[in-house]
Amino acid sequence: MNKRKKHRKKKKYFGAFIPILSLLILVFCVLHLFQSPTVILAEDKSFSVGESIMLSDLVLEVKDGVLLTEDFKLDSSKAGSRTIVFSVKTRLGQTRSESFTVEFTDEIAPVITAPESFRTMVGEELDLLKDASATDDSGEILGITVKGDYDFQKAGEYRLSYIAKDSSGNLTEKAFTLTVIASPFDKNGKLIDGEYITQTGFKLKISDSIAYIDGHLIVNKSYSLPKGFNDGNNGVRALRPETVNAFSAMKAAAPLEIRKKLSISSGFRTLSHQTILFNNYVQRDGLEDALTYSARPGHSEHHTGLAIDITTADRNICKTPEIAPVMEWLSQNAYKFGFILRYPEGKTDETGYMFEPWHYRYVGTELAKTLYNNGDWISMEAYFGIDSIYRGY
Ligand code: DAL
Ligand code: ZN
Repeated sequence: MNKRKKHRKKKKYFGAFIPILSLLILVFCVLHLFQSPTVILAEDKSFSVGESIMLSDLVLEVKDGVLLTEDFKLDSSKAGSRTIVFSVKTRLGQTRSESFTVEFTDEIAPVITAPESFRTMVGEELDLLKDASATDDSGEILGITVKGDYDFQKAGEYRLSYIAKDSSGNLTEKAFTLTVIASPFDKNGKLIDGEYITQTGFKLKISDSIAYIDGHLIVNKSYSLPKGFNDGNNGVRALRPETVNAFSAMKAAAPLEIRKKLSISSGFRTLSHQTILFNNYVQRDGLEDALTYSARPGHSEHHTGLAIDITTADRNICKTPEIAPVMEWLSQNAYKFGFILRYPEGKTDETGYMFEPWHYRYVGTELAKTLYNNGDWISMEAYFGIDSIYRGY
């Protein structure tokens, strides 16, 4: 009897346990379902500007939920705090917005790349910012300014600097010099007697309206010869002896086949001869074309007695199988006798004239060897740091 009573009691307890357990499981499941997601973030959220940081580098794990936002690169271009917002999905499928703050710092100053010096003549302005650029770790595009006073109208050496500043306030200052040199030209392009320094630092001397650099007579579109020069009364009306002698020596040294064809097709020209030539070319081809290959009267080297056209002065003839080897031989050997190829190929911007394979100028062997430059001719203009442009026409 007692035993049976006990057994009934046990059965009653056990019968109550199952629903309680089920209820507990249900509560647990419901709680689990309603559990909000926990986002585990990286501890360190401080970076340098320009660093490549992805959202996934910072959101390490989402417990009880799923990261909804697709991975992306954080904008690290500027210093400062940034709030990053992203979405997670709860177990019940709800979308929730989460956020955290990152800090970008910039302590690195911009780097300026720019020339260290400029030279120009009074009145000839340069764009000082043309070849200057600044880069920064932030990757932002930085502006550059010039600090200091200067005046393109006044000769002097100006000590200036480039300034670049990034958005965090890091500043770089890079010094440079602007040398404005006195101009040898008056406002009409006429030469003013005196001593000047060229773009490449040579001393340019103008004496009685004739330009010399290192003792070499300079004649081009910028530097003219004065009226009366070499007109028979003042100077010789012929090729100079050094030109004649150098040509003879070159001819004597040339291989027979070349020697037979070497002759001076145009040597000394008077001012009136050049005037007739130039005017004829203008009539034939128009002024613009004529200026590319013929000098205005007073600007031709042929007037100096130092220049010669060898064998031909014709673009078509010099390309014939007969003459092309002569031109080639001259370009490789004339320097040994003191001649320079005065208007080399591809140097029109410097010399002011198109390629003239026949026009040689006597300058002596020392300068000729330098300008020959192992076959890669340097123009007289580039070497001496002068221009060749008509002023005042
Ligand atoms: N052909 C050259 C440039 C001259 O006329 O002097
Ligand atoms: Zn010539």
